[in-house]
Amino acid sequence: MANTATIEIDGNKYEFPVVKGSENEVAIDISKLRANTNGVITVDPGFKNTGSCESGITFLDGEKGILRYRGYAIEDLADKVDFLEVAYLLIFGELPTKEQNDKFHDDIKAESAVDEDIKKILDAFPKAAHPMGVISSLTSALTAFNPSSVDVDSEADMYKSVVRILGKMPVLVAWTMRKKQGQPLDYGDNSLGYVENILKMMFSRPNSCYVQNPVLVDALDKLLILHADHEQNCSTSTVRIVGSSHAGLFASLSAGISALWGPLHGGANQAVLEMLQAIQEDGGDTKKYMAKAKDKSDPFRLMGFGHRVYKNFDPRAKIIKKAADQVLHDLGINDPILEIAKGLEKEALEDPYFVDRKLYPNVDFYSGIIYRAMGIPTEMFTVMFAIGRLPGWIAQWREMRLRKEPIGRPRQVYIGATERKFVPVEER
Ligand code: ACO
Repeated sequence: MANTATIEIDGNKYEFPVVKGSENEVAIDISKLRANTNGVITVDPGFKNTGSCESGITFLDGEKGILRYRGYAIEDLADKVDFLEVAYLLIFGELPTKEQNDKFHDDIKAESAVDEDIKKILDAFPKAAHPMGVISSLTSALTAFNPSSVDVDSEADMYKSVVRILGKMPVLVAWTMRKKQGQPLDYGDNSLGYVENILKMMFSRPNSCYVQNPVLVDALDKLLILHADHEQNCSTSTVRIVGSSHAGLFASLSAGISALWGPLHGGANQAVLEMLQAIQEDGGDTKKYMAKAKDKSDPFRLMGFGHRVYKNFDPRAKIIKKAADQVLHDLGINDPILEIAKGLEKEALEDPYFVDRKLYPNVDFYSGIIYRAMGIPTEMFTVMFAIGRLPGWIAQWREMRLRKEPIGRPRQVYIGATERKFVPVEER
């Protein structure tokens, strides 16, 4: 592989360095393009060919179905460590020792109370408000309650902001769900593990003792791990670009949550359940919807199947399918929606249309099934994704700050009117 790439414009040749990542990914470094060519830029809508940064956090290979955090295979992490260890790994680069892990959890617990005044903000939202909008607003509001979180020029300040948001986010999530349901707000129990506490805060009832189900704890722990990072996706790029202006961590995360909300990104898990519900309301005929998905004149697509990056299989889906089967079996769930999901999965995995196009169920297909079986309302699915993605966003934001990356400021190719003569209003 050559060390340089040559671009020829109007007969002039310009050389640019070719850089190689540690997994042999190749990129042309065009950072001097504009300066060297007197103003030429590149256009790449959707940034499909643009590396926005160099990053040492997550590696994925869509063709081979590989996903690694800091070099560790997702399969090993989902099997052998818990969500907080993965969070530590992503954010600080190494798996924690027992002491580091205990301290990390203690520091998070110490920050897990939120200001009572947050309840007043929550009260102001209509009951019908989508939880993603509420969570994005509350995350942004945390800056007002914790002004020092904006000054993150030292490692110590950054650490404080990191444990603060990891401590408070599950409280905000649980409160948002309970408020919608008319349930009293619960502060959780700091003697519990991080994921156990999330479940308790969401599902405890004022008149009964909440009993943990280890199968659900394990399934949610795995789901959060699987969602924890996915390199430069839409919400992560958003967090990095907002943070590049030196906006604080909470403001950057709030923007990331808004980006995740969209149905083309994190909102897909909600779309899967809505599709299953629509099939049920239409009589539950999965064959009819399989035929619709294959019919090129019909815009219908089987939600939760296929993936833009993973063209062989989604390694996260393999792991989470096992957890989904376990949850359904353990809870002895008899839910027609989940029966439809199982029927579609079986038919699609045997159907040449899906097999030939390598359209496998993706992580969103199974995560929706697990969340539903757990009793999490459909509108909360993307919020659960946000809890999982939190360490990834934090890690990417921190990396961007530590590397002292410049402010993100893309260019454009202007296609509007050229200079026009001003016309006074009475002459228009
Ligand atoms: N149902 C039916 N057919 C499909 C589906 C599907 N879900 N997905 C792809 N196809 C077909 C396409 O029609 C196309 O067929 P053709 O070759 O005969 O024209 C072929 O498979 C390739 O599809 P593309 O659209 O080129 O694949 P792309 O990589 O652009 O799309 C995407 C990937 C957007 C995920 C797509 O598979 C899809 O729409 N899936 C459903 C939505 C979904 O589940 N999104 C969540 C993704 S996971 C995540 O974001 C965490």
